[in-house]
Formats: sequence, C-alpha cells, structure tokens
Amino acid sequence: MCGIVGYIGSKQAEPFLMEGLSKLEYRGYDSAGIAVFNGEKIVVEKSVGRLNALREKIKGHIPQGNIGIGHTRWATHGCPSDVNSHPHVDCHGEFAVVHNGIIENYLELRKELMARGHHFASETDTEVVAHLLEECYQGDFAVAVRAVLKRIRGSYALVFLAKAHPDMLICTKKDNPLVIGIGQGENFIASDIPAIINHSKESYILNDGEMAIVRADGVEFYQTVSGEKFDKEIFTINWSAEAAEKNGYEHFMLKEIHEQPKAIRDTLSGRLDITNNRVVLNELNWSLTDLQNFHRIFIVACGTAYHAGLVGKYYIEKLARIPVEVDIASEFRYRQPIVDEHTLVIVVSQSGETSDTLAALKEMNRLGATTLAITNVVSSSIAREAQKVIYTMAGPEIAVASTKAYTTQLIVVLLLALYLAGLKQTIEPTEMEKILCHLRDLPEKIDMLFAQTETIEKLASHFKDKNDAFFIGRSLDYAVALEGSLKLKEISYIHAEAYAAGELKHGTLALIVPGTPVIALATQRHIHEKTISNIKEVKARQADVLAIVPRDNTSIEQVVDHVFYIPETVDLLAPILTVIPLQLFAYYMAVARGCDVDKPRNLAKSVTVE
Ligand code: AGP
Repeated sequence: MCGIVGYIGSKQAEPFLMEGLSKLEYRGYDSAGIAVFNGEKIVVEKSVGRLNALREKIKGHIPQGNIGIGHTRWATHGCPSDVNSHPHVDCHGEFAVVHNGIIENYLELRKELMARGHHFASETDTEVVAHLLEECYQGDFAVAVRAVLKRIRGSYALVFLAKAHPDMLICTKKDNPLVIGIGQGENFIASDIPAIINHSKESYILNDGEMAIVRADGVEFYQTVSGEKFDKEIFTINWSAEAAEKNGYEHFMLKEIHEQPKAIRDTLSGRLDITNNRVVLNELNWSLTDLQNFHRIFIVACGTAYHAGLVGKYYIEKLARIPVEVDIASEFRYRQPIVDEHTLVIVVSQSGETSDTLAALKEMNRLGATTLAITNVVSSSIAREAQKVIYTMAGPEIAVASTKAYTTQLIVVLLLALYLAGLKQTIEPTEMEKILCHLRDLPEKIDMLFAQTETIEKLASHFKDKNDAFFIGRSLDYAVALEGSLKLKEISYIHAEAYAAGELKHGTLALIVPGTPVIALATQRHIHEKTISNIKEVKARQADVLAIVPRDNTSIEQVVDHVFYIPETVDLLAPILTVIPLQLFAYYMAVARGCDVDKPRNLAKSVTVE
C-alpha cells in the first residue's frame, strides 16, 4: 500500500503535502514525490528513499503553488527509484497522477499506448493512467477521468492534477481508501486519516464507484459510471492522531491481522486465472523442460517464514510431486547441503533483509543452484540477489510479529505448487478448479472469522495466567501449530511449544498435568481420527484443551474443553484460516498480560545480524 495526499486552497500546497506524507510513511516508505502547479506548469519533484531524501532534494527550490498532490511508495511494480516514484505524468506534463493499488491490465495498456506513440519514463503500472488520461482528455477533466476508469482493471485510489484545470483536483477509488478533509477555503485529500487529522475533523469518506471534484471552496461528488451527481454525508473524525495511524486499532499487529483479506486479495490479483483453470506467474515463465531440470527443491527461511516453508513443502510435494527439503537458514548454510544446477532453492523472507537468509541465498547462487525469492519488499537485498522473485502483496508490516506476511507467503507457495503441478500435469483439472475457487473465496471466509473475535478474547482471558502452552497437530496442522506457538511466545512471553500430535507420547506427555493449556489443530480430514486420539491422550491427563476444527465437526465438543470453528474449505487451504484464531489468541493473550504487542522485548522486525 502507498500514501497519497492532495491539497487545494489559499495557502502554499507543499507544506501540507510534505507533512501529510510524513504521517503516511507507515504505508509506504521506499520513495516519495510531489507535483505542484505553479501557475505555469506542473512541477514534479520525487526521490528514492525515505521522505527526508525528498525534503533534502527540494530544499532551496520548493515548488510554489496552491494546488498539488504527493505520494509515498510501497513498490509493487518497478523497483524503488527516482523515476518509478510517483507522481507520474503524461507525455507533455499536462497531467499528474498518484496511485495506491495495482492496475492489473497495465501491461496490455502500456503496449497499446506505446504503439500509439506514448513514451514511458517508468516501469510502473501507474504511469499508464497518466497516458490514458492524456488520450481521453477532450476538454472536460471529469469526463476524461471517467473514460480512463472504464479502461483500467484492478484496485486503485487515484488523485489527478491537470494543468488546464488548476482550480480542482479529481480523486476516485476502488478497493483502496481515500478521505477528503474539509477546511476553510481549502480542502485536503489523503489515503488515510492521519494525514488530515491535524487540519480537519470534518471529512468525506469516498466509496468505491465514486469520484470527487475537490475545489478550494467545496467538493462535488459523482458516480463514476453514470456520472450522476450526488451529495455525501460528513464523517466526523474522533480519533487521536496516533490511533489514526493504526486506522483506529490499538496496535499495528491487530490492524495487520485485519488487513489479511485485502493482503490476500492483492497477492492473488492477476495470478488466479479461473476461466482457464490455471495459475499465472509471469515472474517465472518456466517451461516443462525448465521444471524437469529441477531434481530437488530446498525452501530456506527463518522464523515465521520458515513455518510458511513447511507448509510450502507439503503443497509442492502433494501437488507437483517434487521432493522438497525445508531448512532454517542459519543451519542450512553451514551443513554443506548437496546443491548443484539441478537444485531449486526458494528463500522466503518478509523483509527481504534477514541476514541468515540472505547469506544462504548468496551461497546457493555461488553453488550454481536456481534461486527464487518470495518476499514482501520490492528491490530488497534478497529480491535483488535471487535470480527470480515472486512478491507477496501484503503492504508494509510494522508489527514485529508477522501475520499478514505469513498468510500471503502461504498463498504464494500454494500458487507456486499449483503452477508447477499445472506444468507437470500432476493435478486433475477438477482438483485445480476446486482449489482455485476456494482460494478466491478465502478473503471473505477470513472476514467471517473476525466475527468470532469475542470468543478468542474470552479464551485469552481464561488462559492468560498460564506460563506454559502446547500446540499440537498433524501434517499441515503441525506446521501451523509451530506458527501459533511462535506467535504466542514472542508477544506474550508464555513458554509455548508445538509438537506433532503423534509425537507427544514419546516424551513430552510427561509435561501434561491438570490444567495445562493445549491448543489442538484438527482440520485435516484424512488424519482426523488420529488427531482426536492424541487429543484424548492429553485430556486423559486433564489438560485444558482448545480445539480448532472445521465447522462441520461438532462431535469434538464431547472431547475437549473449548472449540473454535473455522469455515468450510479444502484441507489444503485450512492453514490460512486456522492461523487467524491463533494470531488473535496470541494478540489478546499479550494484551491481557500487559505486554508491548508491537515491539516485544529482545526482538526486531528485521534481523539483519547473524
Ligand atoms: C515472526 O513473527 C518473527 N518476527 C520472526 O520470526 C520473522 O519471521 C523472522 O525474523 C524472519 O523475518 P523475514 O521474514 O523478514 O526474513
């Protein structure tokens, strides 16, 4: 996600633009830019790096003018660079645009526009919007914007500035937020409330399919499709500035847990071709021959990313029938793994900067392996070191405890497994179709889970004074149990361990005494009865058991003390649903124990040391 601002009024635009962007840096911070109309032309200043780099760049020649737009970028298409930063302009500098979101059909539009003589300066999806506006403009700014919206597909929040119309900004949105702050003789546009909260508490919240013409003395609203004018109610902001950065959530972690439906939609965007029953990964473009060159696959990562790798192993082996080994990066690089040109090494890293993972990747490149990175940060060190990259589209993850990065990593490793299986034809078309349809429906099923938050809060209150906890499961549930255990221990400081459910009786069962918390995951139908037997083992020792099971499994209520149901899905996708209550459980346990949820003791968001 990115940060967007716009200003029109009686004052100079630049001060609000820069201050507003500074309030939005948590949304995107790899590059920034502003565009201001100075009475003669649209002056564009932009710079790679944090906002301070832009501030330094314009020092001494700050663009003057009382109308402008600005942007802080979280790169999705095109590496962070001066030229890829927003705002983007058309061929003649008549229009400038800032964008938050993904233009799914930008490649075809770019080809069309280039064929008609347009020159592109950047690699971004956004720049096609500026050139489309140039083509569609025939004197009426709003009509031209509506024509552009008919051509683009994807998600967007857009703010447009036109040299020929210096008395207005036009903004519109689909799937990404935009808010308009109402001032006296001035108005403010932003992708989020923190940017405007110090200037106005009165605002308009734009909805999908709406566009606004924002002038210094007022705002007009139109339906983007019909062009029909309408009035909007004013929304009074009653948040503190600090609460606003978290979109009203108490912690970034809770905000990011709730961002997962959108993060998953964005990560799936352009990659699910349900019509043709296939997965599209243009980043790879492997042939069957390329694939036959891989005799084995390693997945290498740390922490939560390692847990995503364990799920990826299961997916790739089950669907594509290629052997996969999963390794902790700090171990892998020192155990002299058997690697050659027939090895594919996949590294997984949210930050793309984890030292152990980066070092392992460099070693694999040196040994001649094919390397593929799955990361959330465009142009990160790991993204640049790997031969191929597939990005998760989770947006910035601020909380130390990884949540939306993990679920989007699971989405990408599943897409990769399906892509490989499709190439090798190791999956029945009916199976592929079923999985793709359930994948598409995942975000709304996660929203259904959020409706049960109160249940999780009560469970956290019940268990909060415990000092030990065990997470158990089999197969995919065991991989998710490891992640649930890490979440709990890293933010609530409770000593939590995850065990393969079948392994307990080989020693750990000795630790189970009356009241010991056991979180049992039992979502995998093919081994459900075995897991139930293991749950009965701990119940026989009077453990206090919370089971997480599919909705249709009510018989479990006779066996355990607490049950949390997840919506119906295929077993393969259960991990992406099961982890949500585990994330929430860890969060509410940490809150109940008064821990620093977003910045837990001893930990850092990105571990750039060995
Ligand atoms: C996850 O909640 C932890 N913060 C930590 O284990 C993290 O997953 C690990 O350090 C790897 O980070 P990366 O994904 O940025 O490489």
